[in-house]
Amino acid sequence: MTTPPVDATTTPAWDDLRRHLTDFRGDLRGWFAADPDRAERLSHSAGDLFVDLSKNLVVDDTLELLVRLAHEVHLPERIEAMFTGEHVNVTEDRAVLHTALRRAPGTEPGLVVDGQDVDADVARELDKVCDFAEQVRSGTWSGITGKPVTTVVNIGIGGSDLGPVMVYEALEPYGSSDLEARFVSNIDPTDVAQKLAGLDPETTLFIVASKTFGTLETLTNARLARAWLWEQLIASGAIEDDDDAKQAAVRAHFVAVSTALDKVEAFGIDPANAFGFWDWVGGRYSVDSAIGTSLAVTFGPDVFRELLAGFRTVDEHFRSTPLERNVPALMGLLNVWYVNFLDAHTHAVLPYAQQLHRFPAYLQQLTMESNGKSVRWDGSEVTTQTGEVFWGEPGTNGQHAFYQLIHQGTRTIPADFIAFATPAYPLTDGQGDGKAVAPGADVHELFLANFFAQTQALAFGKTADEVRAEGTAEDLVSARTFSGNRPTTSIMAPALTPSVLGQLVALYEHITFVQGVVWGIDSFDQWGVELGKKLALEVAPAVAGDDAALEGQDPSTRSLIRYYRAQRR
Ligand code: F6P
Repeated sequence: MTTPPVDATTTPAWDDLRRHLTDFRGDLRGWFAADPDRAERLSHSAGDLFVDLSKNLVVDDTLELLVRLAHEVHLPERIEAMFTGEHVNVTEDRAVLHTALRRAPGTEPGLVVDGQDVDADVARELDKVCDFAEQVRSGTWSGITGKPVTTVVNIGIGGSDLGPVMVYEALEPYGSSDLEARFVSNIDPTDVAQKLAGLDPETTLFIVASKTFGTLETLTNARLARAWLWEQLIASGAIEDDDDAKQAAVRAHFVAVSTALDKVEAFGIDPANAFGFWDWVGGRYSVDSAIGTSLAVTFGPDVFRELLAGFRTVDEHFRSTPLERNVPALMGLLNVWYVNFLDAHTHAVLPYAQQLHRFPAYLQQLTMESNGKSVRWDGSEVTTQTGEVFWGEPGTNGQHAFYQLIHQGTRTIPADFIAFATPAYPLTDGQGDGKAVAPGADVHELFLANFFAQTQALAFGKTADEVRAEGTAEDLVSARTFSGNRPTTSIMAPALTPSVLGQLVALYEHITFVQGVVWGIDSFDQWGVELGKKLALEVAPAVAGDDAALEGQDPSTRSLIRYYRAQRR
């Protein structure tokens, strides 16, 4: 039986938070001045992640109340329920077990859920992915003409794309020049056309990644890729233009990742070359499942297993650390504080690591598909605001684009700053510029100086008197004043290793879960994406020229389709 959600707004802790808010005023300057231990007390570790929460708009009482709130909505019990396979995805009546994908081999007691030996199944499928990766990497797996694979093209969308592409970019220094990956996701024909350009069909391997194997974009792109493969191989004389040869080509150049093996076979892919996962892995939580096959192939099984071990480190922290020191729990609760009490609408994620340039996009699906809900898991209306908009760009690019609004705009934008002590590419600026940059300057240090300076500026600002003291003309003082009290969390780690990346992703998975528990929503369904998909199929005939279908559209859509039909060349 499903445990009903607790309405957080009816808890004593919520009332106390409201009271606490009445005379609450952000005062980071004052708080730090009065409390020399603030930074130390509000910094915590989770695995290799060092997380400084001290520049957030909270005092000790705020955190105590938030932790009380977490207890009053039964967060510890919900964490246990998720890890042990209760059906916390209520609207789909499913367990939520992405954490099972990275359990340590041999963990006791074993995990058996709904009669399934989860540990055994996960280990078997992971071994299968890793064996396959080794075959491709060693050249044992070859294309139809016997050549080894040099390019892997992952075809998928949403969770079947964003995780793999984000990790591929993040771990680029761990790759090899012999094997590259490309990622096709959008049904915009430009995507597949651009990604296939210049590829040698004889050395290209397609991985069709789709949990359902029914997603329009992915299946369309897979068919386009298959047609391209046949056309190219036939044109070069590598295969005959007959069905047997074409089938053999698909079997040698396509594998699949899916939970729907029957559909994989119908496409022409050998089911022996399909890597499975289970309905208890949500798409946006699936990069550590067989959905990461492109990663195991391009980086090798060891790197992939190290990534999983990183996830596990933070899982263990989340499951066993008291809430007062539990980093995902505290960060999730801080987000609740900002959204529900300080009226934040968005949340910036700002990695000071070019390799993480797809991390904000990845987090957008993770957080917004999970917590963009207006009803709770029992179907009742939510009683507070829910999911905030996540966004971001790597520093320092963001600094020269949108940081103005974070520093001096009218809105509160909590921001997570992420940085690593050791860069993948340590470079020095031999000459320097003779002024700010000394000859031989370590460029990563220049980069990190920005990371440190930004959170400092956001927290402490610059008062009007400080601006005046610089000799600024009085009529410019207000424009040059920085209010400070702009909340940030700083996350640091020794280096962006596979393990650290896994830790970061797991951190955000669990932050998302914590927020969902407080709001009483099912963070694991995504009904909100269905209507648009269905309507796209219904609108398609009108777009393709069916006048009766066009007449059936609303006036605005009809006029837009007419415009399209008139302009299309
Ligand atoms: O439309 C949303 C969604 O269902 C995501 O949740 C999912 O990650 C994506 O589509 C892709 O789905 P599939 O892996 O089944 O192709």
